[in-house]
Amino acid sequence: MKQQISYLLSLLQGTSMQCRRAGGILLFSFLLFVGVFLSSLWFDMSMISSSFGRGRGGSRVRLTCPPAKEAAQHTCPSPPPPLARPTTTGPAAAPSPPPPPLCPTYFQWIHEDLRPWSASGITREMMEREKENANFRLVVLGGRAYVEKYGRRTFQTRDLFTQWGILQLLRRYPGRVPDLELMFDCSDFPAVAKAAHQENAPAPAPLFGYCSDNASLDIVFPDWSFWGWPEVNIEPWEPLMKEVKEGNRRVRWVDREPYAYWKGNPWVASWRQDLLKCNVSSGQDWNARLYVQDWISENKQKFMNSALASQCKHRYKIYIEGAAWSVSQKYILGCDSPTLRVNPRYYDFFSRGLLPLRHYWPVKAEEGHKCSSIKFAVDWGNAHQDKAQEIGKAGSGFTEEELKMDYVYDYMLHLLTEYAKLLRFKPTKPPAAVELCTELMACPAGDLEREFMVLSMADGPRHGGPCTLPPPFTPSEMKSMMSEVSNSTGQVELWESKTD
Ligand SMILES: *[C@@H]1O[C@H](CO)[C@@H](O)[C@H](O)[C@H]1NC(C)=O
Ligand SMILES: *[C@@H]1O[C@H](CO)[C@@H](O)[C@H](O)[C@H]1NC(C)=O
Ligand SMILES: *[C@@H]1O[C@H](CO)[C@@H](O)[C@H](O)[C@H]1NC(C)=O
Repeated sequence: MKQQISYLLSLLQGTSMQCRRAGGILLFSFLLFVGVFLSSLWFDMSMISSSFGRGRGGSRVRLTCPPAKEAAQHTCPSPPPPLARPTTTGPAAAPSPPPPPLCPTYFQWIHEDLRPWSASGITREMMEREKENANFRLVVLGGRAYVEKYGRRTFQTRDLFTQWGILQLLRRYPGRVPDLELMFDCSDFPAVAKAAHQENAPAPAPLFGYCSDNASLDIVFPDWSFWGWPEVNIEPWEPLMKEVKEGNRRVRWVDREPYAYWKGNPWVASWRQDLLKCNVSSGQDWNARLYVQDWISENKQKFMNSALASQCKHRYKIYIEGAAWSVSQKYILGCDSPTLRVNPRYYDFFSRGLLPLRHYWPVKAEEGHKCSSIKFAVDWGNAHQDKAQEIGKAGSGFTEEELKMDYVYDYMLHLLTEYAKLLRFKPTKPPAAVELCTELMACPAGDLEREFMVLSMADGPRHGGPCTLPPPFTPSEMKSMMSEVSNSTGQVELWESKTD
């Protein structure tokens, strides 16, 4: 590597180094059409992109890419040596620091998600059993990560940004991620049916993915959007959160439109089409203001109309699932306006930490009940404005505090650590696996992808983390949580029934 090109990524916009995609715009438009039939999540973005003015301030991170010719033979540089742990002996030794605080309660679900293997452990045969549903195998050995990709293509850059997130975890906690092998599924839906694994059936395959539901055993892991979603111009979670916060200051809650807002693609799920029936019309006002996301024209305008700040202008925001879970939930919660959450079927890694009437307002999912449920919620909130604002703030507070990137990484670390304890085989690197490293991932990427990667790079080794993993739920904790959920939901139903 005689000639290395070094540049600040903030200067990089517009100057593509070695890898501008030919015909990118045409291809992108084409993909937009194809995408309609392929995935729900693309269209779920009832929100977003505050990318204008991005690049301000510049990035501290410097990325060094080899000249294009050499890129092919480029291998990952050695990672920095692990942090020397401070010794506790010697005269200068500081008093041992207090144990880190407990992680948020949703971390307790890690134990539940891994429970199917708590007795049997995980054999190589179990792990590989769902190989046909996996997009890649992740191997961590000695603090370095390797990926073996399987034939199935993932939608857009989900796999890339998921792997980028794992790489950032390794940067953040060098030497702390244990050796492991796992299978990862980047699709929308869970794949491991619970029903197939009753009593005498063989233990299920552990398969990592983005969401699961009551009927499935998939192990949930943070989705790619925390590191960015370039195809719809959604920035990484951390910088985006800052902008949402600023946006929230622009319009005080009491000055917002006193209605419930939703914008998205209704064609991915029948329940979304059912929701559209609640839109205001000349004959009926259900207090809902609903809009169809027009991705084709919004793409032409670089998603300007979807900008998140412009979507925090209503006092209430509706969250409804797409074909499966939707990454939009965290952005919707961030608005300081109560989220009217249409009862979901799927969960992701954090959503089980959300409680009705505390972080959101529950809305009935049954066909024919949504409209009256939404109307009631808005009327109630407008009549109890302090309580409504409290719910709005608690939802945003959850995304700001319990869902900050520190905790996203801590969740990944704890989940992978607990998972690795269950392995009954020695992880090895398959010959076809390729090492993940900053240069090999970011240098060949497109401009926006690379920009998001740099924006979402984790700060180097973290001192003092991670938070302390809470023990599994005790039966009484589980019971009281379940009853809080059903009590609050029941309370709302009771109120609703009294207005009929
Ligand atoms: C809902 O009603 C508003 C106001 O009339 C209108 O602008 C909007 O296009 C409607 N949305 C849909 C999906 O029809
Ligand atoms: C999932 O299971 C819980 C507890 O068994 C139940 O209360 C809930 O209604 C189920 N959810 C769905 C969507 O089936
Ligand atoms: C919820 O709990 C409170 C106190 O525990 C109880 O008084 C109330 O009746 C419950 N409401 C419902 C709808 O179950």
